[in-house]
Order: sequence, then C-alpha cells, then structure tokens
Amino acid sequence: MTHLPPLSDDFLVPPGVIYLDGNSLGLASRGAIAALDRISRSWADLAIQGWTEGSDPWFTMGRKLSGLLAPLLGADADEVLVGDSTTVRLHQILQSFYSAEPGRSKILIDALAFPSDRYAVESFLRGRGLDPGDHLAVFESADGYTLDENAIVDRLETDRSIALAVLPSVLYRSGQMLDMARIERAAMRSGVLVAWDCAHSAGVVDHAFRDSGVRLAFGCGYKWLNGGPGAPAWLYVARDLHGTMPGLAGWFGSDPARQFEMKHQFDPAADVHRFAIGTPHVLSAAPLLGSLETIQAVGIDRIRRRSLELTSLLRHEIGRWIDPELAEIVTPEDPEQRGGHIAVRVRNARAVSFGLRRNRVVPDFRPPDLIRLAPSPLYNSGDDCIRAVEILARLLRNPEELSGVADAVVT
Ligand SMILES: Cc1ncc(COP(=O)(O)O)c(C=O)c1O
Repeated sequence: MTHLPPLSDDFLVPPGVIYLDGNSLGLASRGAIAALDRISRSWADLAIQGWTEGSDPWFTMGRKLSGLLAPLLGADADEVLVGDSTTVRLHQILQSFYSAEPGRSKILIDALAFPSDRYAVESFLRGRGLDPGDHLAVFESADGYTLDENAIVDRLETDRSIALAVLPSVLYRSGQMLDMARIERAAMRSGVLVAWDCAHSAGVVDHAFRDSGVRLAFGCGYKWLNGGPGAPAWLYVARDLHGTMPGLAGWFGSDPARQFEMKHQFDPAADVHRFAIGTPHVLSAAPLLGSLETIQAVGIDRIRRRSLELTSLLRHEIGRWIDPELAEIVTPEDPEQRGGHIAVRVRNARAVSFGLRRNRVVPDFRPPDLIRLAPSPLYNSGDDCIRAVEILARLLRNPEELSGVADAVVT
C-alpha cells in the first residue's frame, strides 16, 4: 500500500517521474486542461460574444477566479484579484499604497527576497525620484538562509523611517515560513504597511489573511496553485484599503457597470477589482478555473496537514540516510516555521540536481548550493519522498556518478 498517498487523482504526473518541483511549476491536472479546452472552444465557437456568453463568459471570469481563490487565502472574494504577473502586482501595490512622510519614506525588504521584488522596489523608488541608497532599508540575514523573526518585529516597532515593508510569507530558497499575524501586529502598532509575497505559500499553506490582519499580499498562479506556465498572479487588498485610487490605473479597473461608457473620467470598481489594469489574459487564466476547483474540493486544511507530513518525512529520511557532512537541511525544523518545501545544502548542488533528474527525480536547484524538494500533497506520496531521498543519498555517497552529468542533462 502506498505510504501517504496523493490527495487527488486528477493530476497528470509524467510517467516514471517523481516530480518534486511543484513550488516552481505545478503539474497539469485533468480539470485544468478541460477548462483550457473549454475556454479555447468558446473563442472558436463564440468569437467576440465569448466576453458575455458561454459557460464562463470571459468578462466575469476574473470574478469567478476570485471566488475560487479567496477561501484558500482566508479572504473574501471582493478582496482577491487574479491577473497580470506577480511582479506587476507588486508594482501595483507600491504605486497605490506607498506614501512617504517627512522622515518616514523607506521601504524595507529582506536581503533574501526574490530578485524581481528587489528590482521592482528599486525601480519604483527611482521612478519617484528617490535614491534607493537612501530610501531602501535591507533587513539582513545572519546565516544567508533564514530571517530572524524577533528581529523583524523589533525593527518594525522601532525603526520610524519605514513606510512600507515587502516580506515573504515563505522564503523561496530556504522554505522558512514567517508568522504573518505576529508581524502584522507589530506593523500595525507602528503604522507600517506590509506587502506579503506569498508566491511560495498560496495553495500549500492554509492562509488566514482576514484573521491574521494581513492587508496587502500577492503571489503566483503557476506554482502550488497549478495554473500552468504563464498563469496569472493574484493580488489581495483588505477591504479597509479599497478606497485607495490605483497607482497603475486602466480601464479593466473600472466599475464594470460603467466600463463601456468609454468616458475619460475613471470610475473605479468599488472592490479590489479597481486594481486590475488592462484586458485579462483569458487563455492563460483558464487552467486556474480547473485547478482551483480541484484544490478546493480537496481542502486547503488537508493539503497543509499532508504537506507537513511529507516534508517531515523528507527531513526524517534525510537524517536517517545522509551523512550531515554531505547534506544540511536549511529549512527550519519547527512545522510552524516551514512552508511546503525542504531545502538541502549540498556541495556541487547544480550537478546533484542534474543527477537527480537523470534518475527521474525532478527537484530544483537554487544557486549557489541548494536543492529544493517540494512534494505536492495533491500528486506526490510518501513513497515518492522516500525514493527521492534514497537516490539523493546514493548520489552524494558516490559523487563519481555525477561526473559529466551537468553537461549531459538539459535544464
Ligand atoms: C517568491 C517569488 N516572488 C516573485 C516571483 C516573480 O513572479 P513573476 O514572474 O510572476 O513576476 C517569483 C517567481 O518565481 C517568486 O518565486
């Protein structure tokens, strides 16, 4: 009998492959492919009428996606908007919600942030005529993998120069998860807005934005949400901020009842949809209709519980079979501080990652020294985790198996 079997049989796992890369690109599901087929067909059958007719009129598809995604975030549908890329969503947050006061103009970002977030923040500051050298505050990491949560709280409470902070819910390299509710309490006390990058948590962590006091968040659709390559991102804006005018305005942010009046005066939607910009990427969004339904049917609480079982199993197997000299787990041991993946520091990580792929295990590699193992509760089993560690242990014990491997395997 399979140990910790997958929670869904809807996914199309490449035959013979142990796919542990769901935090980079989630797998296709029958539901997602069916939704894509359905929406493509509606283009063929209905042409322009597809905007308002058919099973999923394209004009209201975004609102349907909001309704499917919101419960996974512990939010209401009118607070969640699907569309554009993650980086564009961060730009929208910065353009809309950053407000400087004399002596309080800095944006805080952590030293381990995903590079695109850093690029967005720096380009935003430059666009406002502010030198990032003076207006960017970088929260350093002592070990290069994790962030000290106590120190973040302390910084938010004491550093009065910070106007806005960009922080990860789950760090993309180490998989450390931050306590969003605790950090929000500190931010709230000192009047700092936090924009949470939830690319590595949405779909695998049982978020409770409303109850945690989260006010701004954004994330990807193609990782744990399994929306497929190029799936749109999402933006969460808590209801109390809905009165803010969008910094990046466009006609799809209009009140839907008035959008086609084509007036030059912008009448924004009353809810989060005012932060939409241009025509939605209908075909790219279509698979999410299917994948979000599957995730909802399984239930995000079950997914989180199983995810912790799988990552605990990975930790256990690594500890049991691999000499700590050869592989060090940098993901925190405490389940409350763990997202959906385990990051292992190994020598020659790039070649090890290629070696795993040659053995039909798909991890991913983050330079310079990390292998990330990301089991999805939806399509991975405990047996997958055990087998993957067996192969990893063998490769680390026999580095000669890796010679020439990096050249032989294409990424
Ligand atoms: C943590 C994190 N933030 C932001 C991004 C950027 O996403 P996008 O390419 O959709 O802008 C990624 C992409 O992988 C990511 O992992």
